[in-house]
Amino acid sequence: MVGRQPDGWRLKFHLMPPEGWLNDPNGLCQFRGQYHIFFQYQPEDPRGTGKTPRLWGHYAGPGLTKLRFEGIPFEQNELDRNGSYSGSALVEDGKLQLFYTGNIRLPGEYDYIHDGRESNTIRIVSNDGLHFGTKELLLRTADYPSDCTRHVRDPKVWKENGNYYMVLGARLKEEKGAVLLYRSSDLKRWEFLKCITTGEAFGYMWECPDYFRVGKYALLSVCPQGLGPEEYRYQNVYQSGYFTVTGILEDAPQLGEFREWDYGFDFYAPQTFADDRGRRLLIGWAGMPDAPYENPTAERGWQHALTIPREIVEENGKVLQKPVRELEDLRYGATALTGENSFVLEDGSGEVMLRKSGEDEYPWQIMIGEGLRISGGDGTVCLELSEQWGRGRRVRRARVGKCRKIRLLIDTSMAELYLNGGETVFTARFYPDYSGNRQLEVKLRCPGMEGFGWQLKNMDTGMKTR
Ligand code: FRU
Repeated sequence: MVGRQPDGWRLKFHLMPPEGWLNDPNGLCQFRGQYHIFFQYQPEDPRGTGKTPRLWGHYAGPGLTKLRFEGIPFEQNELDRNGSYSGSALVEDGKLQLFYTGNIRLPGEYDYIHDGRESNTIRIVSNDGLHFGTKELLLRTADYPSDCTRHVRDPKVWKENGNYYMVLGARLKEEKGAVLLYRSSDLKRWEFLKCITTGEAFGYMWECPDYFRVGKYALLSVCPQGLGPEEYRYQNVYQSGYFTVTGILEDAPQLGEFREWDYGFDFYAPQTFADDRGRRLLIGWAGMPDAPYENPTAERGWQHALTIPREIVEENGKVLQKPVRELEDLRYGATALTGENSFVLEDGSGEVMLRKSGEDEYPWQIMIGEGLRISGGDGTVCLELSEQWGRGRRVRRARVGKCRKIRLLIDTSMAELYLNGGETVFTARFYPDYSGNRQLEVKLRCPGMEGFGWQLKNMDTGMKTR
C-alpha cells in the first residue's frame, strides 16, 4: 500500500508521530492534572537522518489514553542548533521545567566523539505547560569532567532532601559508559559530585540515565552501548536496563547486577516519572537506534512509537512492569479462553491474558496470524517473526523460569508481551499485509492455562489512526 491508501500499520493505543520520525520519550510529567509526554521528533524526516535537526514533539492531556498532539514546544537557537536532545521535566511551584541537551556539531573534520561536538545542558520553563520561556545555559562542554569524551547528555533531574540532583549519561575517554551526578540548591548552579560507573567497562557509553526508588530498591536505569550479544541477553545493537544502587548520594555507591527492561527487538531510551497517584510510570521508545533493519512505515512517511506507560512496582524483591490500568478502559468484547482456543482480533488490536492453573510445565505456543509466534515451556520464552512480518527481525529469547502468567497486547503493528506479572517483557513491531481488513487470528496452544481475550479500541488522540 502506498500513496493515499489507508495505512493499516498506524497504531491504535500507542503514541506515534503524526508524521515523520520519533525517538526517545522526554520530559515525562504531570502538571496541573494534565499528563505531558514529550519526545524526540523530526517531523519532516521519517528516516531520522541528520538532514533536519532533532526537535521535541509534545502530547498532553487529562489521561494516559486521552492525549492530544500539541506540536513543537520550543524553537531551536544557537544553544541547541544541531538538535534539542533528550531530557526530563521537573514540576514545582506551578512551573513545568525542562532540562535537556543542546547538541552542537562544529563544522570541520572531527570524529565528533573526542572533538567537534558540544553538549549544552539547558533549562527552559513554562507556566502553562504549553509555552516555554527563555533558554538558560546550565552547563557547557568545558564544565564536564576532563575524563569525559564529547558524549555527555540526557539530563534527568529530581529533588531529594531539599536539594536537586541531576544525572547525565557519559562516554569516558577510557571507552567506558558512566553517569555524572550533580547537585544544586537553586536549579541554576550545578556542582559536580561524582562519576558513577562499573569497575570493568560495561559498554563504552551510557545514554538516557534515570534514577528513582521503587519499593525497597533504588534503581539506576541506563542505556549501555557496546555490550556483546549473548544467547539470552543483550541481543539488540544497544541495551537498556537498570542496576540496583545503594548510596548514590554517599561516598561509594554500589551498583548491583544489571537487568534489561525489555527483551524484544524494539525498545530503548526509557524514562520514568511519578504521577499524582504515586505511581512510578515508565515509557520507552519502541524502536532502536542504528538497527540493521528499517521499519517499512518509513515508506509511508512515519517511523516509530512509544510503548504504553508501564507501572513499575517491586514485589517480593522483583521489579515488575505492568501496563497502566487505564488501558483496561479500551477493552471490549471479552471472551473466556481455554489454553486451546482461537479467537479473532477484528481490527488488528486486542489483548490475551492467560494464567496457568497447575504446577506442571508444558510446551506452549501463541500464534498471531501467520507471522508472530510466541513459545515457551522449557524455562525460556521465544518471540519469532516470519520473514514478511519481521523485515529483518527474526528471533528474540529470554530466560523466564516457569511461565505462570502471560499478558499479550497486540496493536496492529506492535506487540507488548508481559510474562509472570511483568517480570520479563518483550516489545516488538511487526508488519502484516493489511491490504483488506485488519483481522488477525490468535491461536492458543497453551495446555493447562486459561484466561480472557479482549478487543482493544483506539485511545483518544484526535488523530487519524488508519
Ligand atoms: C538515545 C539518544 C540520546 C539523545 C537522543 C537524540 O536514543 O541518542 O542519547 O539525546 O537520542 O535524539
